[in-house]
Amino acid sequence: MDKPVFKQTPRTKHPDPALRGDKITGDRYYSKEFMQKEWDHVWTNVWQIAGVASEIPEPDDFFVYKIGTEEILVVRQKDLSIKAFYNVCPHRGNLLVHVDKGCLETFKCTYHGWVYNTEGALIDLQDPEDFDSGNPCGKVTLKKINCDVALGFVWINLKDDCQDFKEALYPIIDHMMPYQPEKYVRVLNITCEVNCNWKIIHDNFNESYHVPTLHPDLSTHIESDYKLCQFDMYENGHNRMLMPGHRPALGSQVLDFPLDAALEAWDLNPEDFKGNAQETRLAIQKKKRELSGDRGFWHYEFLTDEQLTDYYFYNCFPNYSITMTPDGIQVLRPQPHPTDPEKCLFEHWWMVPEMESLSASATFMASDTSKGPAGEKMTETPVGPRPLKPAEHESIIYPEGSMGFTADQDISMALGQQKGLKSKGYGDDAILTNQERRVRRYHEVLNDYIEGRR
Ligand code: FES
Ligand SMILES: [Fe+2]
Repeated sequence: MDKPVFKQTPRTKHPDPALRGDKITGDRYYSKEFMQKEWDHVWTNVWQIAGVASEIPEPDDFFVYKIGTEEILVVRQKDLSIKAFYNVCPHRGNLLVHVDKGCLETFKCTYHGWVYNTEGALIDLQDPEDFDSGNPCGKVTLKKINCDVALGFVWINLKDDCQDFKEALYPIIDHMMPYQPEKYVRVLNITCEVNCNWKIIHDNFNESYHVPTLHPDLSTHIESDYKLCQFDMYENGHNRMLMPGHRPALGSQVLDFPLDAALEAWDLNPEDFKGNAQETRLAIQKKKRELSGDRGFWHYEFLTDEQLTDYYFYNCFPNYSITMTPDGIQVLRPQPHPTDPEKCLFEHWWMVPEMESLSASATFMASDTSKGPAGEKMTETPVGPRPLKPAEHESIIYPEGSMGFTADQDISMALGQQKGLKSKGYGDDAILTNQERRVRRYHEVLNDYIEGRR
């Protein structure tokens, strides 16, 4: 089979859209009225990720995606395309499917027994003769929802006459394609209920100003000096942050874990970098180019040298962050709580390329084919090792459960911020650094939706 050819992801700085200076008032984070506006103008208007396409590989496989108070039934069709419907029986409005996922040739409503096929058409019911307008079979269908598949994700949009998919996802599809996420396995799928508004978490991902304070441990291998990172904001509300990786941050000469382990994994001696630790990034890029093919890193050949070491962090409108790393793809998404603006459902996925053979120490976050307790192939994730197969969904409540060390650090601040933003002590706006301008921009795009400019 021919190898795919991808355009290289541009690194050139995208010109910043002008900011209006909209205030970021506290009520946006706790007002039920504002929450309703978000539902009316954002959640029912935007393309959003419903799930992972490879987890419904066979005809009749389905999963249910929940957003706000809605449930969406996503079904693999006989022709292998994917369709999405409201998970509601039009007869009298009962929920149709009461499980999160499965495989069914037909969906039978548990209330009066109406039966729908996987294309959403009513195909059977009791007493079909008992309707003044005739048998509804073949006429009644589940209400369909716009659905598309890209980057291995299933995307849905609840608006009938919705935004053009490609325009809405510009430029992230092009930028992410070389990683080929459709060939990755979601090995971690956690949802954590957090006592804060969803935007507090999304705001946090819209700036790296907090990284040196809150995540000092990351400075061993990810750049946190804003002057050495790049921030790009796109017209449609998405943005990205390019963070050099595999070298110590802030010009440091400290060679600590996991950077030293990464050097060793790629046949480099940490001792050789004493006094010139800033050179580890380029040295690792070179070694990865040289050795990755033999070691089974099939995806490296499609990435640029920078992508072999750096973190391409896409923070997308309205609420999903997708970080492309050389070793895996991280999705972090605070979903709005269905009823309470002071709670959210924070999701954390980790996806890895499946690889045939790779030693446990090959790199600090890649697939590790060592065996788990049940003899399963295991892989490293931000919350520890998991089997290298589609993950079962885990639900946790913070702080009883962990979302991973770094995400937990972010959540710990979010709880305090939720309280503080309700206090008179906050004032009526944030006082932002220049490097936090993506936070302002994000709220301005949100206002554009709410006030009907988009
Ligand atoms: S509500 Fe579904 S069959 Fe009546
Ligand atoms: Fe953070």
